[in-house]
Amino acid sequence: MELTRRILLKGALTTPLVGQIAATSTSGQDRERVRLDAGWRFHFGHANDPSMDFGFGANGETFAKSGNFADPCRSNFDDRDWTPVDVPHDWAVELPFYESRELAQRGSKPLGRAHPETSIGWYRRVFTIPNADRGKRIVLEFDGVFRAARVALNGFYLATNESGYAPFRFDITDFVNYDSPNTVVLRVDATLGEGWFYEGAGIYRHVWLVKTNSLHVAHDGVYVRATTPIVEVSTDVVNDSGRRQTCRVRSSILEAGRVWAVTASEVRTLDPWSMARFDQKIELRKPRLWSVEEPNLYQLRTGVETHGAVTDQYMTTFGVRTIRWDAMRGLILNDRPVKIKGACQHQDHAGVGTALPDRVHAFRVERLKAMGANAIRTAHNPPSREFLDVCDRLGMLVVNETRMMSSSPEGLSQIERMILRDRNHPSVILWSLGNEEIEQGTDRGARMVGTLKQRARELDPSRAVTVAMSAAWERDVSAIVDVEGFNYAEAPDLDAFRSKFPAKPAIGMETASSYATRGVYANDSSRGFASAYDVNFPAYGSSAEAWWNNYDQRPWLAGGFIWAGFDYRGEPGPFGWPCISSQFGVLDTCGFPKDSFFYYKSWWGSDPVLHLFPHWNWTDGQMIDVWCYTNLDRVELWLNGRSVGTGDVAKNSHLQWKLPFTPGVIEARGFRAGRQVLTARRETADAAARIVLRPDRSRIAADGDDVAMLAVEVQDTSGRIVPDADHEIALAVSGCGRLIGVGNGSPSSHESDKGARRRVFNGMCMAIVRSSGQAGELTIEASSYGLVPASALIVCES
Ligand code: GAL
Repeated sequence: MELTRRILLKGALTTPLVGQIAATSTSGQDRERVRLDAGWRFHFGHANDPSMDFGFGANGETFAKSGNFADPCRSNFDDRDWTPVDVPHDWAVELPFYESRELAQRGSKPLGRAHPETSIGWYRRVFTIPNADRGKRIVLEFDGVFRAARVALNGFYLATNESGYAPFRFDITDFVNYDSPNTVVLRVDATLGEGWFYEGAGIYRHVWLVKTNSLHVAHDGVYVRATTPIVEVSTDVVNDSGRRQTCRVRSSILEAGRVWAVTASEVRTLDPWSMARFDQKIELRKPRLWSVEEPNLYQLRTGVETHGAVTDQYMTTFGVRTIRWDAMRGLILNDRPVKIKGACQHQDHAGVGTALPDRVHAFRVERLKAMGANAIRTAHNPPSREFLDVCDRLGMLVVNETRMMSSSPEGLSQIERMILRDRNHPSVILWSLGNEEIEQGTDRGARMVGTLKQRARELDPSRAVTVAMSAAWERDVSAIVDVEGFNYAEAPDLDAFRSKFPAKPAIGMETASSYATRGVYANDSSRGFASAYDVNFPAYGSSAEAWWNNYDQRPWLAGGFIWAGFDYRGEPGPFGWPCISSQFGVLDTCGFPKDSFFYYKSWWGSDPVLHLFPHWNWTDGQMIDVWCYTNLDRVELWLNGRSVGTGDVAKNSHLQWKLPFTPGVIEARGFRAGRQVLTARRETADAAARIVLRPDRSRIAADGDDVAMLAVEVQDTSGRIVPDADHEIALAVSGCGRLIGVGNGSPSSHESDKGARRRVFNGMCMAIVRSSGQAGELTIEASSYGLVPASALIVCES
């Protein structure tokens, strides 16, 4: 390993075997870390035909000589007909939908062997490095590219990164031009998939350029273990030069800019091209612990000092907390049991696909928090670092999952990159080494997981490992993992496991898979809609109510993760085409809640909840099931001023009545301890009359990155959402921003996510607007024939 590192450092190319900058690190003195997100150009290539792939590979001499990789690498290459794009960028979301059984899992987008003309994407970007940077190490980092990215700088092939999820980077110092243009080119190949769900295509996470002095903190080089008032820190310092260098490490703990504790190491001398690890202990008196309710964060400032000068400064965010897994009480966080109320999620949102702006991560985590969830499982791949930053900040626990359960060099490299990047995040509580793998019930599977676990332990002894298993819960892989991970185990399976293995902690990694369409109350296979009453689930799954009752009744289970938090593209079960997205979410692809959101909010959250459904627009005399989700004691239901029933609420349950429809209003009055505390109404809506825009925030940052998420509603004259409205809304954005995506949560809409028009689905759609980078105001106008238009103003502040 040491030899490998030395060669890599000298050879100036760091392969994926070496990890990333800690996820939460930022620039400091003598370290420059800038985003290279803006200013890329994009063009489709071709997977089979070199004449449509910029001649790539045409003459069989691709690797014949160093520095001659592909035509688009030439500095004088004419890319004027390439499309200007900013990353994060997902080209798949822009493609049309195709009806094909093979493409269903990929969101019905034309990617794969049968679609060579839309499966290869070329990216090109030019940047300069000033002559003043001679002597510095220069690194190019990619947070995530889907997938098989061949990367070249100034014509020099650097490497192919296979994984669509693991971050990768290159030390490009040897290849750069000083004071003249540098051209980075990627040929990204999304022909093959890694999952069975929509995975996007392209450079869908950030790109960074990092410059350091030759004596610097290694890119993944700070590891903080802050489980007691003694904070343990390991710092890897690299001497990337041909001379001996002397240094010490000064580690300071800060909270909100104020220094609380400092320690300085002994002075050590590093040989040329070597690395040294500095281990330090810092006492932090009476630390404010990180928890779900109070996610207190600290910063560690690492200074590398040589002869009184600081050659590198590196910031790491961390939290002080303890975690233990207990066979009797589940997860013990800071010595208290915390029941996991979790949701699995893919990285996919309406309007943007997998290219989520940072704010969209926060928006999604906030939605799940509002539901009462305290945990997210990043199924089935490592998330972005910005997602984990949000979880740290908001107090959301995370089970972080690697994509490839394999102890092959590629599998090990992927898990190494995940752990090295993510191990300082207090939100991360468990590493998941796989999901429903074919080898979960074999001796070979156990050997692979054993090797992965060993590597995980070396890199992060502070966390346990699990595998999400759909069978073989009593043997092989189960015997290796620290925490048993159940996917869809029924109550008898859970109890049988418990009686055989009373000493093994366990968690529900995947549960429910119940499916529903927002605002729909009867199954309709021709349109691909599923009723939003809690009645639809596959044979292996269960209703929301059934699984949560099972888990809540068993304190030894650490809790569980529903499949899924949000709808996502691909996996359009159970109906298939015209559906192009799944319906397993408690929220739709836009983040609009379905009714079951309020089941969880009732029994997971702490606020009083009273949610009455369905809407109240039916045919006269039609018998309607009326459901109520509430955590109050008793509910009385009224129809047009007449009491039509009362019900006492059983824990983790719901109330239900059947009524003949008459227009007007149904009202639920909710009581706690005999006192009426909440009412909920559903009123018959009149004809659609106007559009209403509801932005999630009225002020955003003018950084060219931040977004506002706008709910677009079609209402009647009295402000009631019209429950079956499907008007097409035209959207126009002016001022300091632009529209970057639209969606409506319908699982079978084939409208473009990138258009400036979108139909509302059951009365609602969504628009995502991004700031331009200029301070000022932006205005969104929404109009539709026959409706009063609406506009919203967002302030973009610098
Ligand atoms: C699980 C699988 C998930 C998703 C889910 C749908 O078996 O792990 O990725 O496919 O089924 O019900």
